[in-house]
Amino acid sequence: MKPNLRSLPPRGSQILGIGSWQPDRVVTNEELSTKLDTSDEWIRQRVGIIERRYADSDETLVDMAVQAGRNALADAGLSPDLVDTVIVPNCSMPAQIPNAAARVAYQVGAHGAGAFDLNAGCSGFCYGLAVGSDLIRAASARYVLVIGAEKLTDFVNPLDRTTAVIFADGAGAVLIGPSKQTEIGPVVWGSAGEQADKLGIDEHGYVQQSGNTIFRWAITKMPSTAIRALDAVGLTVADIDVLLPHQANMRIIKATEAALRTEGLRDDVTIADDIQYSGNTSAASVPIALDHLRKQSRMKSGDIVVTVAAGAGLTYAGQVLVWP
Ligand SMILES: CC(C)(COP(=O)(O)OP(=O)(O)OC[C@H]1O[C@@H](n2cnc3c(N)ncnc32)[C@H](O)[C@@H]1OP(=O)(O)O)[C@@H](O)C(=O)NCCC(=O)NCCS
Repeated sequence: MKPNLRSLPPRGSQILGIGSWQPDRVVTNEELSTKLDTSDEWIRQRVGIIERRYADSDETLVDMAVQAGRNALADAGLSPDLVDTVIVPNCSMPAQIPNAAARVAYQVGAHGAGAFDLNAGCSGFCYGLAVGSDLIRAASARYVLVIGAEKLTDFVNPLDRTTAVIFADGAGAVLIGPSKQTEIGPVVWGSAGEQADKLGIDEHGYVQQSGNTIFRWAITKMPSTAIRALDAVGLTVADIDVLLPHQANMRIIKATEAALRTEGLRDDVTIADDIQYSGNTSAASVPIALDHLRKQSRMKSGDIVVTVAAGAGLTYAGQVLVWP
């Protein structure tokens, strides 16, 4: 008979704290219109962005992740030395090594924590939250910081109007820990590597995308992934209190909303619209939007929150959360 390792009983996971960080510099559509052949009207109508934040040249992805992580720790009131794992979903580190997470762990005071980056493009935060939650549920970790962080302006050609108006910088963090109840549902995820060339970094180091292809793919994947995530926890679309789609494009958010309306999405649901003032911050967009919804008092304890994201890879993911 094989030996059986002594293990802790299975447990649930919950959100204990949340925080975000965005650079000071606000870049308006008007400012971009002075440098590019674009207009405030085009950007608002086609993308839904009014303004976005750009980091200065000396503010790094790690700097922003540290600030967001500290804010989440302060929100939870947890001593950083209790954090045993730090996950930094991102797709815009300037070099492959060293990773961001080890420096972030050290700088937030989680000295010696397990630390790794995770790249699933714009779905990265949903992937990272799932991995962190399952580490806790399996008793491999106790307190996990998941920090979506991006400095996309390092990879955007400022003269390319098809990308420069969309992508931006920032970081958002959640601190998660064990719970008697399951408050972070199982992830539903997937990929479409056969379409990898539709969104990526070109030979010049700049983001390139087939905007229309990504758009059409996202508006089918986002609602179907939300429905599958609800099904995985025995809920339906009518149970959603807060819909939190990746903030890629307001028209993708509206199309996701419209598809879910036909499945019973209630009229009183809160739908994240943070893209208007934050732009598309890829792996940081979901936690930044979550933090802003909380600060705007648009969520209440016990709300059923559905996160869903799709992006480079191509990848997609979603999960159901119970707001603490
Ligand atoms: C990129 C995106 C905003 C483009 O919107 P669209 O309605 O599909 O526009 P198209 O690509 O068909 O372009 C229409 C015209 O607008 C032009 N255009 C593109 N960007 C422009 C800008 N910033 N200002 C003005 N015109 C612009 C195009 O050059 C094109 O001109 P043409 O007809 O003369 O060739 C949209 O496709 C999109 O958001 N896709 C999803 C991308 C995404 O979310 N990526 C990240 C995934 S996480």
